[in-house]
Amino acid sequence: MKHYLSIKDIDSLPNWVVEAKELKKNPTAHKALGSGKTICLLFFNNSLRTRLSTQKAAMNLGMEVMVMNFGSEGWQLEFEDGAIMDQGKSEHIKEAASVVSQFCDVVAIRAFASLTDKEKDEAELVLSGFVKHTSIPVVNMESSVGHPLQALADAITLHEYKANEKPKVVLSWAPHPKALPHAVANSFIEMMQRQDAEFVITHPIGYELNTEITKNTKIEYNQEKALKDADFVYVKNWSSYTEYGQVLHQDSKWMMTAAKLNKAKFMHCLPVRRNVVVEEAILDGNQSLVIEQANNRTFAAQIVLKKLLENN
Ligand code: CP
Repeated sequence: MKHYLSIKDIDSLPNWVVEAKELKKNPTAHKALGSGKTICLLFFNNSLRTRLSTQKAAMNLGMEVMVMNFGSEGWQLEFEDGAIMDQGKSEHIKEAASVVSQFCDVVAIRAFASLTDKEKDEAELVLSGFVKHTSIPVVNMESSVGHPLQALADAITLHEYKANEKPKVVLSWAPHPKALPHAVANSFIEMMQRQDAEFVITHPIGYELNTEITKNTKIEYNQEKALKDADFVYVKNWSSYTEYGQVLHQDSKWMMTAAKLNKAKFMHCLPVRRNVVVEEAILDGNQSLVIEQANNRTFAAQIVLKKLLENN
């Protein structure tokens, strides 16, 4: 593996989950591996979990860490070949990416979807720009279309808490006041397609995700039916994909409640809006796995970095 850009870069999800759980038992066992190596974390968008867990993972492997809030502190980047740069953009991705690769051995990037231009978002300008113009491994810390570190942490969490070999897992849309990207849902779906599980997606009509990602995954528009006998319920908002980036409605009937959750475990990537996305009682109760999911972000990042260091 040269880069970690999507769930597709995982050669064997079951093996990675087992290896990540081994790292969790003894996080500093491979401290010599990253000695003398540096990772640069570039944030074009805000973060709490991704920033701290990736930093922690790198430190556990003995790496030095440099963090830059590129979105607010870096030069505005130009991505177009042949651009006449006489407007607001000060630096071309060609120089920026080449320069970053002088200072570190791995670069990790967070660059969300704009939700205004589907074609540009799907081209992943920032992430693919760095892949094209650096000589070092690139890690996706959430791009326009995917959040593979989150999905890997979710796979670890599912493995830790499943009570049977083939659990029922439901991805349920929830209301949210702002337009949110599709990245978390996309990577969760791609990860679930590699699991031995009964997997169902439920959302209101109009919130269909990219069919190239959902493929033949079951979609049940009736949330109550979808949730029946669920072992895990993963709740997430996303904006419309077909009416790109639009909030079509904020139907509070789709909020997850304790009554709807029944006996299932509750999952969410965080941050989460209490009493909008999910009833507060769930987050404060013992069916919620959100803190365990956040904790597993470290070991997801650590297995990725370990493999990149070993392979490059
Ligand atoms: N789940 C997640 O990626 O959290 P942050 O946005 O805080 O990094």
